[in-house]
Amino acid sequence: MKVVLKVFRFNPENEDKPKYEKYELDLREDAVLLDALNEIKWKIDGTLSYRRSCRHGICGSCAVKLNGKNVLACKTPLKKAIEDFGEELVVEPLSNKKEKIIKDLVIDKKDFWDKNHKVKPFLIAEIDEHPKTENLIKPEEVEALEEADYCIACGCCYYACESLRENKEFLGPQALAKTYRFSADKRDNAKKERLSLVDSLGIGVWDCVKCQACIEVCPKGVDPFTKITHLHNQIFEEGIAKKNVATKHAEGFVHSIKKHGILDEGMLVLYSEGVNVIRHLPEAFSMFAKGKIKFPWNMPKSDQLEEIQKLVEISQTHELKD
Ligand code: SF4
Ligand code: SF4
Ligand code: FES
Repeated sequence: MKVVLKVFRFNPENEDKPKYEKYELDLREDAVLLDALNEIKWKIDGTLSYRRSCRHGICGSCAVKLNGKNVLACKTPLKKAIEDFGEELVVEPLSNKKEKIIKDLVIDKKDFWDKNHKVKPFLIAEIDEHPKTENLIKPEEVEALEEADYCIACGCCYYACESLRENKEFLGPQALAKTYRFSADKRDNAKKERLSLVDSLGIGVWDCVKCQACIEVCPKGVDPFTKITHLHNQIFEEGIAKKNVATKHAEGFVHSIKKHGILDEGMLVLYSEGVNVIRHLPEAFSMFAKGKIKFPWNMPKSDQLEEIQKLVEISQTHELKD
């Protein structure tokens, strides 16, 4: 199989700017992207740098960007990649910010690892240091983790996250999925401490912008976004949620649905932001003019309001703290 790879090359030690090198390869039909990188390194240009170890989607080290999508090189069949992206395959590091490049496809992942460490990615429990048997949990308790324990810390989700582009402090999808992996584990004794950390504005679950890029790129099916929504619920269920613009926004949804059976966009902003709503007045006027939000006395109600109110009543489990 003929394959043309355009590979990002940059050695900050002796080059001013990156360039792309083109390599024409002849590979087996079942070759994966890592085979192509190995072919270049072993037979064409030994100076190419990239990370790899297991070749089986276990170690998470070979993550790169292929035509703009974060992938594991060892789990990406080239035949399928050509079908998806066309003849020209462009391989880049997960982040091509100049200050992050160590060499070629190898980046400095310190920011990623710092956030992973911040959420204490290990079981916190009183356990016998010399147990006679394993510390087992029931199958249904394992199911509650919903594959969060499959994460191999490859960073594909982290470097695709839209929220992180704007907010460098945000913990990001991997660290939040990791938090859920332990907050959902029956054996862990630090659930409240973990939830309090990710409840913080600026770094935590309320700063996810719900773009779902983390679901799309995760090679292990971890689905960090859904874990983030579970953390939202756990924060309310454990009585940790404090009154702030994010939790008031979540409550505003419930308030509006309870009252109308449908979402009242205008009141939702007022409910979440209180007097600060004044800064949104220009947008509010333009939305009123276009009929996107309604005055309270014009707000329609759902035909099934009573049924919806009963559902809200039985599913609501929390009060916000001051
Ligand atoms: S859904 Fe949230 S955590 Fe996932 S990539 Fe988007 S902003 Fe980041
Ligand atoms: S959640 Fe998925 S994409 Fe993110 S680091 Fe873990 S395995 Fe990689
Ligand atoms: S080399 Fe280990 S995940 Fe690809």
